[in-house]
Amino acid sequence: MNRKQLVVGNWKMNGSLSDNEALLDGLAVADGLSELDISVCVPYPYLAQARERLAAGIISWGAQNVSEHDAGAYTGEISGSMLADFEVSFGLVGHSERRSFYADDNELVGIKARKLLNVGITPIVCVGETFKQREAEETFGIISAQLEAVIERIGLENLGRIVLAYEPVWAIGTGLTASPEQAQEVHEYLRGQVALLDEAAARSLRILYGGSVKPDNAEKLFRQADVDGGLIGGASLNLIDFLTICRLAT
Ligand code: PGA
Repeated sequence: MNRKQLVVGNWKMNGSLSDNEALLDGLAVADGLSELDISVCVPYPYLAQARERLAAGIISWGAQNVSEHDAGAYTGEISGSMLADFEVSFGLVGHSERRSFYADDNELVGIKARKLLNVGITPIVCVGETFKQREAEETFGIISAQLEAVIERIGLENLGRIVLAYEPVWAIGTGLTASPEQAQEVHEYLRGQVALLDEAAARSLRILYGGSVKPDNAEKLFRQADVDGGLIGGASLNLIDFLTICRLAT
């Protein structure tokens, strides 16, 4: 199956109204990228700006988190329907920084994925092991527990509506990248786990790789059979680097 590649930028807590302009306008006019899907997950306050600057082009915008609640007395939180108001296409859930700094556990990640699906936003479900877990050969156990918790909350019928991102925690922002073979091994495993439940969903499932993807290592990663694109942190803040990575995914 020929899956359309997807490259997603994760700006994390970076940017300013003025800095974002050049980046977003550069993305809006980038050409030759219609073969793939591209999105940028910006901080909440910049969703309106991203929508304004990107709406006319082919690049979509996304969010980096969502509340597990629908509305009410949850000071500081942002609901799925609020994101839908800004025509957000994707929402990250389970990013390792959320898991480690904000106690987003497997169950909460599943609930958040469900909240996004409820309002028509595609969750990008991030999974990944720490260095210690890899050393202890726990990688498959950890990521299948992370995946199972999400499937339990969203229901089997929604398996075809999510994107997965494999992000080894030890590779995020560290300059260390999984080798193409390590990435492929985990991606193949994840697809296999989904195939046990729904073969059609497994064939069309897009599994992104994330963790220090840069212009000089992206091509080999993207060439792996089960790598369907990337989740790009640091390099997505640089227009040239991000577009170069996108081009390598075509
Ligand atoms: P990085 O971040 O590319 O800076 O390693 C990836 C991510 O956290 O999604």
